[in-house]
Amino acid sequence: MEPNVSTPAVATIASLAQHEGQTVTLRGWLYNLRASGKLLFPIFRDGTGTIQGIVPKAAVPEQVFETLKNLTLESSLTVTGKVRADSRAPSGYELDVENVEVVQRVPDETPFPISLKEHGVDFLMEHRHLWLRTPRQSAILRVRATIMRAASEYFDTHGFIRTDPPILTPNACEGTSELFEMDYFDNDKAYLTQSGQLYIEATALALGKVYSFGPTFRAEKSKTRRHLTEFWMIEPEVAYAGLDDIMDLAEAFITHIVTRVLESHRADLKVIGRDVSKLEPIVAAQPAPEPGAPGLASETWDEAPRASIPAEAAQPATTGAEGAPAARSAFPRLSYDEAHAMLEKAYAEGKLESPHKYGDDFGSPDETYISSQFDRPVMVHRYPAAIKAFYMQPDPADPTKALCVDVLAPEGYGEIIGGSQRVDSYDLLKSRIEEHGLPLEAFQWYLDLRKYGSVPHAGFGMGIERVVAWLCGLDHVRETIPFARTLNRIYP
Ligand code: 4AD
Ligand code: MG
Repeated sequence: MEPNVSTPAVATIASLAQHEGQTVTLRGWLYNLRASGKLLFPIFRDGTGTIQGIVPKAAVPEQVFETLKNLTLESSLTVTGKVRADSRAPSGYELDVENVEVVQRVPDETPFPISLKEHGVDFLMEHRHLWLRTPRQSAILRVRATIMRAASEYFDTHGFIRTDPPILTPNACEGTSELFEMDYFDNDKAYLTQSGQLYIEATALALGKVYSFGPTFRAEKSKTRRHLTEFWMIEPEVAYAGLDDIMDLAEAFITHIVTRVLESHRADLKVIGRDVSKLEPIVAAQPAPEPGAPGLASETWDEAPRASIPAEAAQPATTGAEGAPAARSAFPRLSYDEAHAMLEKAYAEGKLESPHKYGDDFGSPDETYISSQFDRPVMVHRYPAAIKAFYMQPDPADPTKALCVDVLAPEGYGEIIGGSQRVDSYDLLKSRIEEHGLPLEAFQWYLDLRKYGSVPHAGFGMGIERVVAWLCGLDHVRETIPFARTLNRIYP
């Protein structure tokens, strides 16, 4: 008989449905190996998924059986075999192995350090470069990529122009205590950006609707499960827009991201162990209508019903009339005062350990309590100006309040978005800069924006890692980014 000289197609594990019954070659690594007498059950991974191979001693050349039997975990290899549907297999397929070629064998003396048993978090973070290979970590990174793609896609398809602000900046944006400082040649200092906002206010006044997307840095001295020192932020900024406009925008934007994640990552979320029923209420029942031409704030972002409701009336709104699913997600909106009243009531009823002091920012237990009252993100607006950034426009109805909004994710995942309408008066902004003890010279260009055709404008910033933590149901942001940077870790 003629030997079979045709080369099998190279396939990926994720695409095996197209190769059922065919012989294919996979390029990957040995993820696990189980032996049972004359039968081997290797599990291969290739970055797109995992698949179990079946290797009966009698069915393969002696050398293939021996190679696999003694192969060390995470050795790289190419494996050729026939794809067989198997309803019991997690991926739906198994591979009847015919041949294997080892690319690099992990030496016996230095086995892959991460075994399938439990490891402590410190050990795993120390080996993050290898930990990334495990199915759960890979799944999280795939979801992260989709969140980032969906986030830019939303703005790219709604008339926003991406403009990239600098990373090296001469001054602070979000408070001077959390700045990473560096020498900038001879006698100058530079700081790593905390937010692109100030710069995209300039590009918004040039282009109308803009966004930025990039890494941002905060020298956070706190060890919390929500803070990184380097994280990715996406920030839209809109000329001729006010607080309500960007609240509408934030709602449509988040809904789009959750929709995309549920569309294409149910299998990944299952690997991660996420209860997706918690995310369903957020998904749009119908695709959001396209907004009009890019430009003015008077255009609606979406035809979402306005959900500005007092705390008493703020019911967890899972359903529309008569229990039918709501046409689409509407995020509840509470003023700071309403949220404070909600916390006071909860404290009186013994549902909160400590009282919230009026005028203070919300602590993490406060945010958790507020978000636990709803099955979708909640928008808290109009915080006391005194606890917010210098650039926020005061509320004309009560100038002690700022026209700002924090979006709190459900289930206690905390603040995912912070935004505001910006001060548009030159004089007011100048006195704000002075009151905050910020150097006027460094902000002269920013003040110029209020001198040459100033307009009401507004925007927000969303931290990608907080959203990954929420959508994947992770209890710490360290798993949401390939290499987390925190107070006490900068390796690997
Ligand atoms: O609320 P923040 O500080 O707002 C700003 O930076 C504004 N200048 C944005 C704007 O209006 N264009 O940060 C925005 C978001 C937060 O809601 C949170 O999601 C994320 O950035 N964030 C962090 N994520 C991880 N680690 C940290 N240390 C973070 N600090 C903020
Ligand atoms: Mg904030």
